[in-house]
Amino acid sequence: MAKCNCYITLLLPFYLLSCAPFLSLAQINLPLKAVNLGNWLIAEGWLQPSLFDEIPVNKDLLDGTQVQLLSTKLNKYLSPENGGGAIVVANRSSASGWETFRLWRITESSFKLRVFNKQFVGLENQGQGNTIVAVSTNPEGDSETFEILRNSDDPNRVRFKTSNGHFLQAQTETVVTADYDGSGWEDDNPSVFQMKILNDKYLKGEFQLTNGYGPDKAPQVMQNHWNTYITEEDFSFMSNNGLNAVRIPVGWWIKSDTPPKPYVGGSLQALDNAFTWAEKYGMKVIVDLHAVQGSQNGYEHSSTRDGYLEWGESNVQETVDVIDFLASRYAKNPSLAAIELMNEPLAPGVNLDTLKKFYSAGYDAVRKYTSTAYVIFSNRLSADATELLSFASAFDRVVIDVHYYNLYTDLFTNMNAQQNIDYIYNQRSSDLGTLNSDNGPLTFVGEWTCAWNANGASMQDYQNFAKAQVDVYGRATFGWAYWSYKRAESNPDTQNPWSLRWMIENNYINLKGA
Ligand SMILES: *[C@@H]1O[C@H](CO)[C@@H](O)[C@H](O)[C@H]1NC(C)=O
Repeated sequence: MAKCNCYITLLLPFYLLSCAPFLSLAQINLPLKAVNLGNWLIAEGWLQPSLFDEIPVNKDLLDGTQVQLLSTKLNKYLSPENGGGAIVVANRSSASGWETFRLWRITESSFKLRVFNKQFVGLENQGQGNTIVAVSTNPEGDSETFEILRNSDDPNRVRFKTSNGHFLQAQTETVVTADYDGSGWEDDNPSVFQMKILNDKYLKGEFQLTNGYGPDKAPQVMQNHWNTYITEEDFSFMSNNGLNAVRIPVGWWIKSDTPPKPYVGGSLQALDNAFTWAEKYGMKVIVDLHAVQGSQNGYEHSSTRDGYLEWGESNVQETVDVIDFLASRYAKNPSLAAIELMNEPLAPGVNLDTLKKFYSAGYDAVRKYTSTAYVIFSNRLSADATELLSFASAFDRVVIDVHYYNLYTDLFTNMNAQQNIDYIYNQRSSDLGTLNSDNGPLTFVGEWTCAWNANGASMQDYQNFAKAQVDVYGRATFGWAYWSYKRAESNPDTQNPWSLRWMIENNYINLKGA
């Protein structure tokens, strides 16, 4: 409890303003029943594909798109030797990891090509020579930018204009250079490549969206999205239907009015609105830092540019700064329940010691402003779920977040409805029991859903699955949060289990009195 020395009557209003929130903060009724406001302040295209519809040019070539390039003359794929760090050759008869390039979109038509070992394709000696190499690690270099020209009849037939004004050509299997000046699209033209886009690898996150629209259009698109995707009416709906909290994913760029390109300022105002509406409808807010600089998991929901996980030791301080900013802004807000320091760090790419160092510093940043808000540590994906337990026990009002999806691993591929339901009552129940302890951190099932692989499941199956999860996850001491609140779909008649709103409106789930 903050101590106020208010001895002058005139200051009484200030006394109330500064102390009253602390009083109400202390009363957070646990466990929380929450829903994730996914795809609001961090775009996730799979929840709303139409967000990307109006990107004017090359909308199939957004950041992180993976391509393989077949020389039509040689009928061989381009590849950086050794996956990167040496020359680029054209002698591979089949394509997999090394032969796959990740695009960085620089303008609507110019791109960088990032290779397996993370270097960028470019001209040797910073553009002084003509040989094509994959050695530069500098994302700013000019000699690593290529204009992609697409054939109007077959847009996947491409030529690459190089930074020296010529075209890239595969002269022979081992001589790939930037010195072709001819034209035409014939097979025997050494500058022509057939581009295969790996469609299952598309990223449709905030980076792709904002960079795809570009600096002129993105601000308007994002503002419109924030204003319409979640509104006050949604908070009214949630509070009327048995929910008492929201978990709101936010990105690191929220702390700046003018964030680095391609990000757009303004999501902070939307978050402020959420707090206003939460207070009005008696709900709590969990602010969840879901995307950090460098990406903690390489997934689109971390706003990765190209799918590489690069958050590490050198990002700790700037990530703490984001937490500090969020804590300072909302610590005294009566609706703040918790700040989650980082969503879903992925093991082993995120090192456990680095993560603990960050969690300690992030905890201290929150505690500078509030002693009552909870601080949430997300478990590392693909790691032992108990690895943070003893570490977390040293802190006050700390919560461990686990995410339970009956998806994404082979285990669930062929499970029928009843097997899925049994899995909740048996395995999940026991997993959660392992984490619940008297003197340890609280527990939070921060993401779960009724989406599953049980094809042809009936309404009753869904209802049983939902009930099983509400029953079992209701034992998490801090609470749970469904993923997600809303999924914009073209066909309103199909089952839409990723949308809790749809599940409630169609009587698949009932949380009143749960
Ligand atoms: C491709 O060329 C490089 C450079 O000469 C060579 O090291 C490599 O073994 C060749 N690979 C194939 C599959 O021919």
